[in-house]
Amino acid sequence: MSLSIGVPREIFPGEKRVATVPEAVEKLIKLGFKVLVESGAGDHANCSDDSYRAAGAEIVDGAAALWASSDIVFKVRGPSEEEVGLLREGGTLISFIWPAQNPELMQKLAAKKATVLAIDSLPRQLSRAQKMDALTSMAGISGYRAVIEAANAFGRFFNGQMTAAGKVPPAKVFIAGAGVAGLAAIGTAANLGAIVRANDTRAEVADQVKSLGGEFVKVDYEEEGSGGGGYAKVMSEGFQQAQREMYAKQAREVDIIITTALIPGKPAPKLITAEMVKSMKPGSVIVDMAGEQGGNCELTEPGQAVVKHGVTIIGYTDLPSRLAKQSSTLYANNLLRLAEELCKTKDGLINVNMEDDAIRGLTVIKEGNITWPPPPPKIPAAPAAKPAAAAPVAPKKSAHGHGGSSEPMPANKIAILVVVAAALFWLIGAYAPAAFLGHFTVFVLACFVGYMVVWNVKPALHTPLMSVTNAVSSIIAIGALVQIAPPLAGGISRPDELIRWLAIVAIALATINMFGGFAVTRRMLEMFRK
Ligand code: NAI
Repeated sequence: MSLSIGVPREIFPGEKRVATVPEAVEKLIKLGFKVLVESGAGDHANCSDDSYRAAGAEIVDGAAALWASSDIVFKVRGPSEEEVGLLREGGTLISFIWPAQNPELMQKLAAKKATVLAIDSLPRQLSRAQKMDALTSMAGISGYRAVIEAANAFGRFFNGQMTAAGKVPPAKVFIAGAGVAGLAAIGTAANLGAIVRANDTRAEVADQVKSLGGEFVKVDYEEEGSGGGGYAKVMSEGFQQAQREMYAKQAREVDIIITTALIPGKPAPKLITAEMVKSMKPGSVIVDMAGEQGGNCELTEPGQAVVKHGVTIIGYTDLPSRLAKQSSTLYANNLLRLAEELCKTKDGLINVNMEDDAIRGLTVIKEGNITWPPPPPKIPAAPAAKPAAAAPVAPKKSAHGHGGSSEPMPANKIAILVVVAAALFWLIGAYAPAAFLGHFTVFVLACFVGYMVVWNVKPALHTPLMSVTNAVSSIIAIGALVQIAPPLAGGISRPDELIRWLAIVAIALATINMFGGFAVTRRMLEMFRK
C-alpha cells in the first residue's frame, strides 16, 4: 500500500510559499505516492487548486482533514503548536525545523513518535546532497530579491547612462558577505549595470566575486576567516577593527549596501554602525538580510523598512516569500529530490536509511527518538580540503619523490623498491632486444615525469591540465607533416595521393585541437588568476 504525501496551507503570517507545485506533484505520483493538497495552499504562489488537480493531486478541504489523512507532510515553515497537534501519531514531517533554535518543538514532535526530516540540517558539503539543498535555493532567491528591493527604494538607475538630458553615473553597490545569497546579489546587481564591490572574511570567495562581475575588497589585516565546512567564524578584535575602517570608507562612497553576513549558531556580526549610516549619501539604501539573526546593521528593524538619517534600511525577513512562485518551485524540487532518495524503489514507500550520510544528517527525529545532532559525515567536507591546497609550501618539504602526498614512505621500503626496480631493469637489459630497452627507458621516464607533473598540480587545476595535455597530444601533427613532405633529395618518392589527403585532414584536425586546446586552457587559467 503506497503512502500519502500531504501539503497543508502555510499558516505563518505573511508566508506565501507552498511546499509543492503541480509539476512536482506529477513526479511524486510517478514515484508511487498519493498526493493530497489543502484547498488554497498554493493560492499565493500562483498554483490554483485546479492546477494541482490536473497534475493528479487530491484537494482536501481544511487543515484538520489534510493532516489526518497524510502519512508524510511536506511543509515550508516548521509546524506551529496547533499543527503539531494535527500531525498523526508516528507520522513523518519534512520541513524547515532549525532544531538548535527550537528545542521545545523538537520535544513536542518526539512526543508524537514522529519521524522528522529537517531540510535545514542537510549536510550541504556532500555533493550528492546539493539537489536537496533548500538553504542554497532560498538564499539565492533572497540575494536576488534584496537587489530588487534596493532598486525599488533607490531613486536612481543602476546602470550608467549617457542621455540627451545628461550623463548618469552608475550606482555603486557594496555587498557584505559573499556566501550563496551575497553571490546571487552580486550577479544581479552587476547584471543591472551597477559597480559592485564585495567583502567576505573567507578569502577563497574572492575569485567567485570576480567571476560574477564584482570587485573583491580586502580587509587590510591577515587572518584566516574560514570556520570549517565553508562557513565563517567570529574574527579577532584586530580584524574587526580593520574591517570597520574599510566598511566606513565604503559607506561614504557607495549608494547601496546589501549585507548577508552570518556565522552559524552565532548572532549576526554587526558590520554597519549608526555612524556609517549617518555618513552615507541621502537617498542611499541598506538591505540587511541578516535581520532574523539580529541584523548586520545597528539600525535595522527586522521585518521593517525604515528611513534613518536619510537612508532607507530594509530588514525584511521574508525575501524568498516575496518571490513565492519561484521559491515554491525550487523548494518543491528540493523535496522531490529528497523523496526520490527516500523511495529508491519507486513504490510509494519510504526508507529513512540512517546509513546514508545525507539522510542521516536530515533526520532530526526518528520514530520519536531525537537523533540530532548527527555524527560528522564520513566523507570529509569539500571546503575543508582547501587549507591544504592553500599552503603549497608545507607538502614540498616532505615530498621526497612522493609528489606532495601527506604520508611519506618509510626509507627502508623505498630502498627495497629501488633494489627490486634495478634488478628488473637489469633482467630486461640482459635479455630483451636493444631497441626495446631504449623504448622502455623512455616509457619509464615518461611515467615518472607524468606522475610528478600531475600529482604536484592542485586538484582545482586538473581540468585546465587535461585540456593542455590534450592540446600537446596534437604533436601527432608532426607525423602528418612528414607524410605530406615533398620528395627528398635522396630520391625518396612522394607519398601516394590517398596518404597525402589523409595527412592534410590529419593536420587540419590536429591544428584545431592544438590551438583550440591552448585557447581553452588559457581561458580556464584566467579564472584562477588573481
Ligand atoms: P552563511 O549564510 O552562513 O554566511 C553568509 C556569508 O557571510 C558567508 O560567506 C560568510 O563567510 C560571510 N561572513 C560571515 N561573517 C562575516 C563578516 N564578519 N564579514 C564579512 N563576511 C562575513 O553562508 P552560506 O551562504 O549559507 O554558505 C557559505 C558557504 O558555504 C558558501 O559560500 C559555500 O562555500 C559553502 N557551501 C558549500 C556547499 C557545498 O559544498 N555543497 C553548499 C552550500 C554552501
